[in-house]
Amino acid sequence: MANYVVGISGGSGAPYTKRVIEGLVQAGHDAKLVITDAGRRVFEIELGISLTGNPASDTTTLNESLDLGSGAGSVELFEQRNVAATIASGSYECAGMVVLPCSMGTLARIAAGVSSNLLERAADVAIKERRTLILVPRETPLSLIHLRNMTAVTEAGAIVMPAMPGFYHHPEKVQDLVDMIAGRVLDKLGVDSTLLRRWRGVEN
Ligand SMILES: Cc1cc2nc3c(=O)[nH]c(=O)nc-3n(C[C@H](O)[C@H](O)[C@H](O)COP(=O)(O)O)c2cc1C
Repeated sequence: MANYVVGISGGSGAPYTKRVIEGLVQAGHDAKLVITDAGRRVFEIELGISLTGNPASDTTTLNESLDLGSGAGSVELFEQRNVAATIASGSYECAGMVVLPCSMGTLARIAAGVSSNLLERAADVAIKERRTLILVPRETPLSLIHLRNMTAVTEAGAIVMPAMPGFYHHPEKVQDLVDMIAGRVLDKLGVDSTLLRRWRGVEN
């Protein structure tokens, strides 16, 4: 199947990330991950999954901690300073990338083309190669700087998809809200999943 890059930065939203990685693998895709130092910090706070920064052992930890089912896909994590990794090159075959969560710091650096780590470089590559790039920020309230950076990345071709679940499907538990965002992200990446409930309309 296909390679998808998942960049994980230090915003709040690790439960979404977990669900999207699981959805990719369960659909038979290969999830290529890169996580920032702040991303690891928040990942541990929100999910209790402790990543050390060592790509080999962190890949093992994720394979053991995530609910990957019998999916035919795989999980591979790259070190955030490894700008020589495959995903740093435009020649690498990749169906799309999501930055989930996308901290306002990472958003700003992507908007400015800074590429100071592997996550930002992979996002820069997605933009220059005109590939699908989804950024999922979570911040409130939004400053003018945040809004301008979101405008800049949108003008460059990225899709800003804030983590804003709706209530029209009558969610009963937090996981329902998580699945709503994860399902929308997977759908935008073109990945089949059972998470997305499409609105069927109401009679009058
Ligand atoms: C528990 C926790 C939650 C955070 N939540 C957010 C958030 O929702 N959005 C955000 O932009 N930054 C958030 N931050 C701050 C970022 O982690 C911080 O700005 C960091 O420098 C981002 O680094 P990165 O872009 O390299 O991942 C949070 C930090 C912590 C510790």
